[in-house]
Amino acid sequence: MAKRKKQSRHARAASVSLPPVAPGLLSPTRRVPAEIARPPYALTGEPGPSVSSLIRTPDEIGAMRRAGRVAAEVLLEAAGKVGVGVTSDEIDRIVHDETVAKGAYPSPLNYRGYPKSVCTSVNEVICHGIPDSRPLADGDIVNIDVTVYIDGVHGDTSATFLIGDVDDSSVRLVAQTRTALELAIAALTPGCPVSEIGRVIEAHAVKHQLGVVREFIGHGIGTEFHSNLQVAHYYDRRHRAPLEIGTTFTIEPMLTLGSPEAALWDDNWTAVTADGRRTAQFEHTLLMGEGGAEKLTVTAAGECAHQISLESVA
Ligand code: MF3
Ligand code: CO
Ligand code: CO
Repeated sequence: MAKRKKQSRHARAASVSLPPVAPGLLSPTRRVPAEIARPPYALTGEPGPSVSSLIRTPDEIGAMRRAGRVAAEVLLEAAGKVGVGVTSDEIDRIVHDETVAKGAYPSPLNYRGYPKSVCTSVNEVICHGIPDSRPLADGDIVNIDVTVYIDGVHGDTSATFLIGDVDDSSVRLVAQTRTALELAIAALTPGCPVSEIGRVIEAHAVKHQLGVVREFIGHGIGTEFHSNLQVAHYYDRRHRAPLEIGTTFTIEPMLTLGSPEAALWDDNWTAVTADGRRTAQFEHTLLMGEGGAEKLTVTAAGECAHQISLESVA
């Protein structure tokens, strides 16, 4: 199912013929073995107010490295299985089982009542797509967003993948969204304002005539899935909070081919572009260190699914 190849040169010119993404059926709730440590919200669904410090202790940083590595490994595992005809529910099963097999809890499960273990966002879905019975189709793009909880902390990473023969503008969208994230990471220095992230990403998007989604942003992460630090992907000079050494946070730009305006499905989770045009996202969990921002969501060998995301899978 998952034969990966470089995108062919005679790719489809446009995706307009593909119908909008429609909701499918949800499988029964998956179980997490009792011996796996759960985040506080797992039972009630309510994370409560953010109380954690933005700066991690040395012990927490060690745990964040492990959580980041597990998240990267799980995303790579899912990336190896996607392809035409694979349902997003199958992706959920793979992510759930791999996460649990590594001794971690799939952070999305029951976070604010979210029903599944991963987010799968197809084509015009911006983020928080709920895995269901819809099979991936030739020409789709799909973002898989994995978050795991292990050793008391979360690791959060996502990538967008090309399914079969994807049209040229979608390939460009996916490629430039990945580049925007890389440019933002490379621009950061200890103590720099968090607004630097949005400045770099928005400038790159403008240069490539892509929209920047404003409704959804990156976040502080650690003992809490989403902590107080807000990471906009557009520039706002008022966002002056300094990224001090020891801060752990995500950058997760969502760029669009058309207007970045968002709409919400009736499920109260699935965010789509209001104009129905496509959108892509990439995410890393990062640690601000002396030498700048370090990616935590990579394997022990320093690899991640971002590297294979532009190789289309049939
Ligand atoms: N992983 C998403 C993020 O990057 C959050 C998903 S919350 C969920 O912040 F409940 F939808 F899973
Ligand atoms: Co995130
Ligand atoms: Co995420």
